[in-house]
Amino acid sequence: MLNYPYELLDFGRHEKLECIGGVVVRRETPSAPGGKASGVDWGQAELRGREVGDKYRWDGVAPADWRFDVGDFQLQLKPTPSGQVGVFPEQSVNWHWINQCPVDLTGLKAINLFGYTGATTLSLASRGAQVVHVDAAKSVVSWARANAQSSELADSPIRWIVEDALTFVKRELKRGNKYDIIVADPPSFGRGPNGERWKLQRDLFHLIESLSELSRGRCKMVLLSCHTPGVGHLQLRREVENQFKFDSGVGSSFALELHTPKKKSLPSGNCFRWVVD
Ligand SMILES: C[S@@+](CC[C@H](N)C(=O)[O-])C[C@H]1O[C@@H](n2cnc3c(N)ncnc32)[C@H](O)[C@@H]1O
Repeated sequence: MLNYPYELLDFGRHEKLECIGGVVVRRETPSAPGGKASGVDWGQAELRGREVGDKYRWDGVAPADWRFDVGDFQLQLKPTPSGQVGVFPEQSVNWHWINQCPVDLTGLKAINLFGYTGATTLSLASRGAQVVHVDAAKSVVSWARANAQSSELADSPIRWIVEDALTFVKRELKRGNKYDIIVADPPSFGRGPNGERWKLQRDLFHLIESLSELSRGRCKMVLLSCHTPGVGHLQLRREVENQFKFDSGVGSSFALELHTPKKKSLPSGNCFRWVVD
């Protein structure tokens, strides 16, 4: 059973208040709509992140050994200049799905694009999959490796790749490599290590088309999420199903959300996932 050391305490006025791995964090979130709930003490935050001028500033001190321990794996957390801390908790529904997946993932070949600090990579590795983890940022790939180490998954068959996602996929297609499990969580905009520009609204269709080729004839699982305004889960579903042409299996699409104890829901992206039956 997985344990998520996370609670969204409240959000509103473009900020959210969260308890992440035991630390109360208040940070700016442009997409946090509406007003704040009454009776929530925003002054309890131990860490506060916000933009000041053109810089992101953190006030407060994070614990030296700040961890997000899910059970199957753990992530080391730290405040970063992008306003992130090393985990996207809205993905916890997908780690749970992988953990509970009835298909034996042992030895299956997975690709995780835009893998960040490795949560989904480690989730797949903890079920025995061989994972190729791809991210453009060398620093987050090193962070993901350190997370594998502290999760006692350092000896798992994981390849760590610093590369532009689309360039890597095209190279794998040329080499004739194939994958059983496809995972991608692309941002709206990004940059490859050699300046390659990723623009979701322009590139997503091409990425899905290439990924369908990469898993043609042996696909067992697909997990695609994104956080781009205007790209809904039904669109993700339609585009994946059109390209992958599954003739069986179980697919579902839904909005990713985080909930407060007062039952407010914070929209946190969209997701489509499919698994063979
Ligand atoms: C939203 S995060 C992914 C979160 C991750 N799936 C998780 O749950 O931990 C987006 C990631 O995409 C990476 N990225 C941005 N542009 C990229 C590109 N062109 N190729 C590969 N990775 C890229 C960033 O470095 C960042 O780590």
